[in-house]
Amino acid sequence: MKLSPCKLALDKDCADLWVINTHELVPYQGRLHSFLDGEERQKLQRFTNLEAKATFLYSRGLLRFLTSCYTGSEPQKVRISTGNHGKPYIEEAENFFFNLSHSGGLLAYLFAGYPVGLDIEDSRRKIELEPIMKRFFSLTEIESWKKFSAANEKLSFFRGWTRKEAFLKATGEGISGLSHSTVSFEPNQRKALTSRFGKNDENEFWFFYDLQMPEFFVGSAVIKHKELALRQRSLLEI
Ligand SMILES: CC(C)(COP(=O)(O)OP(=O)(O)OC[C@H]1O[C@@H](n2cnc3c(N)ncnc32)[C@H](O)[C@@H]1OP(=O)(O)O)[C@@H](O)C(=O)NCCC(=O)NCCS
Repeated sequence: MKLSPCKLALDKDCADLWVINTHELVPYQGRLHSFLDGEERQKLQRFTNLEAKATFLYSRGLLRFLTSCYTGSEPQKVRISTGNHGKPYIEEAENFFFNLSHSGGLLAYLFAGYPVGLDIEDSRRKIELEPIMKRFFSLTEIESWKKFSAANEKLSFFRGWTRKEAFLKATGEGISGLSHSTVSFEPNQRKALTSRFGKNDENEFWFFYDLQMPEFFVGSAVIKHKELALRQRSLLEI
């Protein structure tokens, strides 16, 4: 692994999924820092929490590296803008979409020619499932989740959680859209959007993927418009 300039191309029938453990990036801290722009370097200095600081350095540095390989710009010059609710996008790149997620020392990125959303969660997080379900999910979603046995309730919780989060990141609404959409908690549902603004007419446009993840992690991806194959990429290839 060199993190040297390289060329990556999107395939029209595939979305590229990159999953990286931050431990692998420790020797590349200096290189990743050199990819950041001035504003990001200032932001990095303001972090007081060291873990959050390292996550920002790794996730933003690697985002700049990977987007530079796909777009042909220099890492530091890639123009990353953010939408109304914080969704990052690249200004100059047409038909180039991405999203990213980080949790428990893992980074994940999804790149495609269509709008995408991605969420990963470390299932070792200590959380009270029931109160969170009541706070963030609709009655329909809670019923969908309650069908699972005690042995499966945690995995199904994170499946539903990451699906919903990935969907809200694909639309760009983020947490502001929490009450507008509902998802199914059943496994392997390519069409897992059960309603949006009280209707189900958008269901056909959204394709959901339960991701294969390292142990303890759960992840979901969402792609708009078209069903694509997920191509697992590795930094060792480049
Ligand atoms: C910010 C949010 C989009 C995701 O937060 P998260 O799950 O804690 O974090 P993730 O690691 O999955 O994603 C963070 C990345 O998503 C991207 N992002 C931020 N806002 C986004 C948005 N509106 N849409 C899409 N992507 C967004 C950013 O790249 C961000 O990483 P960065 O800040 O390092 O650049 C937002 O939805 C949120 O605050 N969620 C809280 C979780 C929650 O309450 N979920 C309820 C159950 S579904």
